[in-house]
Amino acid sequence: MAIIEVQGLLKKYGERVAVGDVSFSVEQGEIFGLLGPNGAGKTTLLSMLATLLPPDGGRAAICGHDVVRQRDRVQRCIGFVPQELALYPTLSARENLAFFGRIYGLRGRQLEERIVAVLDLVGLRARADDAVHTFSGGMKRRLNIAVGLIHEPQVLFLDEPTVGVDPQSRNFIFEHIERLKAQGLTVLYTTHYMEEAERLCDRVAIMDEGRLLALDTPQGLIRLLGGGVIRAKLAAESALHALMPSLSASPHVRAASQREGWLTLEAHDASRALLELVSVCNAHHVPILSLEVLEPNLESVFLHLTGKRLRD
Ligand SMILES: Nc1ncnc2c1ncn2[C@@H]1O[C@H](COP(=O)(O)OP(=O)(O)O)[C@@H](O)[C@H]1O
Ligand SMILES: [Mg+2]
Repeated sequence: MAIIEVQGLLKKYGERVAVGDVSFSVEQGEIFGLLGPNGAGKTTLLSMLATLLPPDGGRAAICGHDVVRQRDRVQRCIGFVPQELALYPTLSARENLAFFGRIYGLRGRQLEERIVAVLDLVGLRARADDAVHTFSGGMKRRLNIAVGLIHEPQVLFLDEPTVGVDPQSRNFIFEHIERLKAQGLTVLYTTHYMEEAERLCDRVAIMDEGRLLALDTPQGLIRLLGGGVIRAKLAAESALHALMPSLSASPHVRAASQREGWLTLEAHDASRALLELVSVCNAHHVPILSLEVLEPNLESVFLHLTGKRLRD
């Protein structure tokens, strides 16, 4: 049985459907990504799975326990790291961890051991006795992750753990997540950064307006796009308009667009579309100054599925 089972989960705020009929399952040891723009419903979905918000329909089970009827059991097997930091700024890292550890019933020697283990895990042992208000944003995030792990959960929920974090801390967080995976932890991770989802996740669900639009491995999702994307800078920007109709009409081109002097072709078949581009430019006597063939990525998959950009 899957460690996370979600079936037809639904949440409304008044008339607004925040999460509508969402179903998926996650296997033990997977890093599963929920990728979607702000307002997609990621936090609402995670909050229902973490038993913090009652669903309006459907059901979900974590480690075989129902998130509505067996809240206590679910809470013991999950760690939840919220988007908003939940730390006491005047307490030290160690004191924060002790506070949250006691909530989970940890005491004495066992609590001490867990505190040291999670501090090591997030690389904060040297700062254990410093007050949290002296920490950088990235260090606070890492401590927040440590709090989520204090009771040795089997499943960790991370809600946008890298928003507002400097690149170095971001890399630290990635490494921690990869280390946790190596230890067999299951991670459900939300982000609106497609590079993160591509790098970290075994599987990714693309979410928009409360619904899952696609679910597969990053490579599988990218294959949805087929042929790749070509970008070209032409010698005469004014020529772009003249070229567009022939390029758009090509059977090898899925879509043609232009922006800041660059021509972009979404291709069904990149090599054929490239030949087409070169011959159309030749026919119009327009030299190509620069040319790129882009790897299709999750950003373009999202654009393809929704007609929108992940970040606008
Ligand atoms: N407490 C709330 N009351 C009313 N609407 C809410 C509330 N929380 C979230 N929403 C709405 O539900 C939708 C999904 O929000 P959220 O789950 O926070 O998305 P995400 O985490 O993907 O940014 C948004 O349209 C948001 O405005
Ligand atoms: Mg959110």
